[in-house]
Amino acid sequence: MFLPRLIALFLCTAATLSAQGSGSSLKIETRRALPADDTPQTTLPDTATLPRVLPPNRKSVYSSCVTTQQLIAITFDDGPDPVLTPRLLDLLKERHIHATFFLVGKNAAAFPEVVRRIVEEGHEVGNHSWSHPLLTQLGPESVESQLRRTHDAIVKACGTAPLLYRPPYGAVRLSQRTRIEKTFGYPAILWDVDPQDWKHPRSAQKVYDAIHKQTRPGSIILCHDIHETTVAAMPATLDDLIARGYHFATVTQLIAYTTPPELMGPPAPAPASLPSIPLADPQPSQARNDPAKTDEAKREKPVQSP
Ligand code: NI
Repeated sequence: MFLPRLIALFLCTAATLSAQGSGSSLKIETRRALPADDTPQTTLPDTATLPRVLPPNRKSVYSSCVTTQQLIAITFDDGPDPVLTPRLLDLLKERHIHATFFLVGKNAAAFPEVVRRIVEEGHEVGNHSWSHPLLTQLGPESVESQLRRTHDAIVKACGTAPLLYRPPYGAVRLSQRTRIEKTFGYPAILWDVDPQDWKHPRSAQKVYDAIHKQTRPGSIILCHDIHETTVAAMPATLDDLIARGYHFATVTQLIAYTTPPELMGPPAPAPASLPSIPLADPQPSQARNDPAKTDEAKREKPVQSP
């Protein structure tokens, strides 16, 4: 695929990657853009120090986050794969990148040692259902079972509970999403960068080109660590993003970092069971101006992608 070359803004270099399995070499033409209009306004903190807790009034669904900073999240779905995921983990480790893995429960149960390695190396794990069905065709009990079994398998494998889920195919009804959020506390995580790396045949070059072209500050990139071409595309793709000044956070870190404090809402009220502490100088009760909570779930439509 030919991409127009913007003179003076792009440097084109070539990188050679080992094509997995065939023993042949795979050539990826890399395009490096100089920072232009999306120059960061303030210095990013070290992503290793960013909090890994969702803010209290996060949204119910994300396909990207709003920021002017060069902060993005890369996600890998449908694994873990016993061969490809460890290979990908090596590539991420070499570059000090933390990613988010949306795990299929039956794969997490089959390869718990890979799940452990993912978490031990600082990545985030999310719930991607037990067997990757189209949730929109399932009843509420089946949906809950799909997510519950996966949640438990991940906890059993690595001791860490997922905070997020991604519906298979990005498809979930509004009523299902609301129920999942209430039951598990998960926001739904979609994406804004889709290299369609699941398509066959799909070249590493196409994966690279799509990610290079679509990624913006705050992007959530969708990839799959069960395809050889995806893993083969990663060295050049990741190096390109790094060269363009992007920093990688986990999805939870990206959400936490990009949620403005003024949107955090009032602090949660103390639990009713706690004994009240008498004040030395009692004040008349202050009326709290709780802003009316916007029910974003009602405004948003279910999202479906192929
Ligand atoms: Ni998937």
